Amino acid sequence: LNTIEETQLWGCGSVMHLLQTVVKNTSIAQLWLVTRGSQSVLSKENNIIGLAGSSLWGLGRVVSLEHPQLWGGLVDLDPQTPEADEVEMLWQLLINEQQEEDHLALRGEDTYVARLAKQYPPEFPEPLSLSSDGSYLITGGLGALGLYTTEFLVSKGAKNIVLTGRRPPSEKIKELIEKLEQTGCKVTVLLGDISMEEDIVKILEQIQKSLPKLKGIIHSAGVLDDGTIQKMSWERFAKVMSPKVKGTWHLHKLTQNLELDFFVCYSSLASMIGSPGQGNYAAANGFMDALASYRHSIGLSGLTINWGAWASEGMAASLKVEHQNRLDASGISEISQKQGMYALDLLLGNQYAKAQVGVIAVQWQVLAENWSGIEKGSLLRELLQEKKEKLEEQETQKQKVKAEILAKLETALLEERLEKRKSEM
Ligand SMILES: NC(=O)c1ccc[n+]([C@@H]2O[C@H](COP(=O)([O-])OP(=O)(O)OC[C@H]3O[C@@H](n4cnc5c(N)ncnc54)[C@H](OP(=O)(O)O)[C@@H]3O)[C@@H](O)[C@H]2O)c1
Repeated sequence: LNTIEETQLWGCGSVMHLLQTVVKNTSIAQLWLVTRGSQSVLSKENNIIGLAGSSLWGLGRVVSLEHPQLWGGLVDLDPQTPEADEVEMLWQLLINEQQEEDHLALRGEDTYVARLAKQYPPEFPEPLSLSSDGSYLITGGLGALGLYTTEFLVSKGAKNIVLTGRRPPSEKIKELIEKLEQTGCKVTVLLGDISMEEDIVKILEQIQKSLPKLKGIIHSAGVLDDGTIQKMSWERFAKVMSPKVKGTWHLHKLTQNLELDFFVCYSSLASMIGSPGQGNYAAANGFMDALASYRHSIGLSGLTINWGAWASEGMAASLKVEHQNRLDASGISEISQKQGMYALDLLLGNQYAKAQVGVIAVQWQVLAENWSGIEKGSLLRELLQEKKEKLEEQETQKQKVKAEILAKLETALLEERLEKRKSEM
């Protein structure tokens, strides 16, 4: 854990301080963030040796939106000792003035670029059925999404659920838990701080002592402390990183010998495409995104869901009004409980899911228009282009149908007028 914490400070901390200094300076260079082996690039790659550096990818995406004028991009170097002349390759990439890519990875002599791609759900999804003789742990389980998830797991047959948080449940939450217990599910609340190893050890020991075998984990604990990188302090940064970096790492380490059906991290769109004012949060979620791939690479279950904003009482509701307005204006609408749980059902029930999946409610046309002003932003390029072409095609089709209806109406009117004339004559 020391390495992870140190890397966060040297990596994200340095970028934060560097930006705070550079932006005040008039001669602005381009900022490229370089990691080694922090991203999963090739499907068979099993050496994400630079997991600790992965937060920089989340932070970088926020830098690209907060400081587009100095944004260069992200490069992940080969985790193996490279055979190719890496320095020369890197140099050529960075000095290329026509460089339109801002998500790059070097593997051997090849350069890879990242793209978001649409994932189609299976035509006949397998119904999810949870084991009634297993236990399911939801960290941050007393929060908004934690409680939605609890209801969902109960509806899918779970009979033992453990919810964790630092504070005891409110009266309202106690009532909800009682209602859920009336359906025959045992809901246990265990208090503890997920970023403290000793707290997780205690929680896991209690599950082992008094409940059936742990079969699945949903890591939903998290906090926000929004602010632009310019105004951020390392204390605020570290506070948001804590449950998602330390917490996820402890959870992974302490359960890696268990046979879990799922290990799901509730991440955010902020780390997937960036979100101004949420550099710390994007960095924190970026770590979970890479950890899910890392788990996959070593043969363990792992899924990170990059949720868009939810229509809930949780984190989305505590966002500042201007942040929420910005989201609305960018074409990203809120995910309802029903939509979110439908997505979770598909993702948990079908092993087709990749290690990382983004789930957003989006108006593509508005998002495409918003994104078109962003010069780099190569990640979304093809997805938006594909959507744009589809929308244009739909529009042409609509106009065609409209023209046909108008022509038919005109003919009908003409015929009606002729008939009227005839009868008058
Ligand atoms: N809501 C959204 O729109 C949205 C969108 C994208 C992603 N997400 C992700 O989904 C997750 C849940 O979001 P939410 O809306 O349900 O948030 P929420 O209502 O604020 O719930 C988060 C819960 O995490 C707990 N928590 C925070 N730090 C903790 C720690 N160190 N140890 C143990 N528990 C801790 C909090 O309880 P205590 O303070 O009592 O510990 C709280 O109940 C978060 O990880 C968030 O990043 C949410």
